[in-house]
Amino acid sequence: MPREKWSSRIGFLLAGIGSAVGLGNVWRFPYIAGQNGGGAFLIPYVISVVLLGIPLMILEFAVGRHFKGSIVSSLKRIRKELRWVGMIVMIVSALVLSYYLVITGWTLAFFLFTLIGTKLVFEDITQSYLSPVFFAIVGVIMSVIVARGIGRGIEKTNKIMVPGLVLLLAVMVVYALTLPNAMDGISFYLTPDFSKLLDYSVWTAAFGQAFFSLSVGSGILLTYGSYLDERVSLESNTSIIAVFDTLIAFISGLVVFSIVFSFNFEPAAGPQLAFATLPLIFKEAPYGIVLGGVFYLLLFFAALTSAISMLEVGVAVLIDETSMSRLKAASLFSGILFVLGFPAALSYSRMSLQILNTPVLDLMDRLFGSHGTIFTALLTSVAATWFCDKRTIVNQINKNTNCNLGGFIFFLLKYIIPLALFYVLVASIIFYE
Ligand code: ALA
Repeated sequence: MPREKWSSRIGFLLAGIGSAVGLGNVWRFPYIAGQNGGGAFLIPYVISVVLLGIPLMILEFAVGRHFKGSIVSSLKRIRKELRWVGMIVMIVSALVLSYYLVITGWTLAFFLFTLIGTKLVFEDITQSYLSPVFFAIVGVIMSVIVARGIGRGIEKTNKIMVPGLVLLLAVMVVYALTLPNAMDGISFYLTPDFSKLLDYSVWTAAFGQAFFSLSVGSGILLTYGSYLDERVSLESNTSIIAVFDTLIAFISGLVVFSIVFSFNFEPAAGPQLAFATLPLIFKEAPYGIVLGGVFYLLLFFAALTSAISMLEVGVAVLIDETSMSRLKAASLFSGILFVLGFPAALSYSRMSLQILNTPVLDLMDRLFGSHGTIFTALLTSVAATWFCDKRTIVNQINKNTNCNLGGFIFFLLKYIIPLALFYVLVASIIFYE
């Protein structure tokens, strides 16, 4: 069967944006920025997006488009042994997706219960059967979309959900910025604490966040690149995705902190900011039901479009390596994810599943979402620049562009970026609190 393709450049662009814009932007970015110097955090963040994130994104798209295969088959085509690197990337990406889906389930639960007027708090969901049940529901929704294929499933979903989430975010921005104490929240969020820039952990937090948010290093972009037409310019479209992703993260911070300060809540609530603090506010606020509905639908759209991109990594491997049908591959992979993610779904339950005094979900986010993704980005960049012919990659990058930056980007990817990634990886393990 011929390989499926994106039907248009816009279809590809929206799928790339859908993959990048996710929980990382709306749920993770605001509290990570808040904890790491507010406005000053934007400096290391933008540096990591431009110097590390964009070149790695371009590399993944280029390798995928040239070899026209999944992460395993593309790397195998460079050199047979590299299929093991592809397998490691796929496994880490599956582990990230398994807990990511648990949180996606919470967003859907919050949305539906807000809609029917039941005002829930965080524990109502996490301590009850609702967490595993919604985990299973979003797993089924995701696998149905991926089973329908690139054009009819993934592309179509993104064409609806990405504009949808932009619209929902616009509603939240208008609401949040017209609140009486919005300026207090914005000055907390944006007043730079430049002394933080001397703190090493702020830089590793920025690198980790940029990687997670841009979907780099998990094989997603390589897989999406394998469905991409040769006429599409990699440099300009990658930059559009990265700028869009950064803007949405930045604006989400404005929304979250304006709301939190206007209702006199604690801003530094960490990872629970979106699920523990905001529901309490939506419970009290005028029009809270509408606001909560808009906010959690926005989170759900963002999370689901990222989740389907992660599932496609494994599904493409199964299809390419075993010639299994797409439906079978999507169902089998989702079943495996359900088993992998089940302990994470119970980590905040009454059973309180913990390892080393850390909830399983948090531990998985730390091990796979933070360290694992940096490690797999390192593996991918080394595999594609040290073992693949330079001309192949440079030609791919320079196709249909006037910039001809391929040679420079390749140099960065071969020498500078792997060193930086290695350094960041070691430092993030040592300094992780
Ligand atoms: N890139 C996705 C996110 O930001 C995984 O959530």
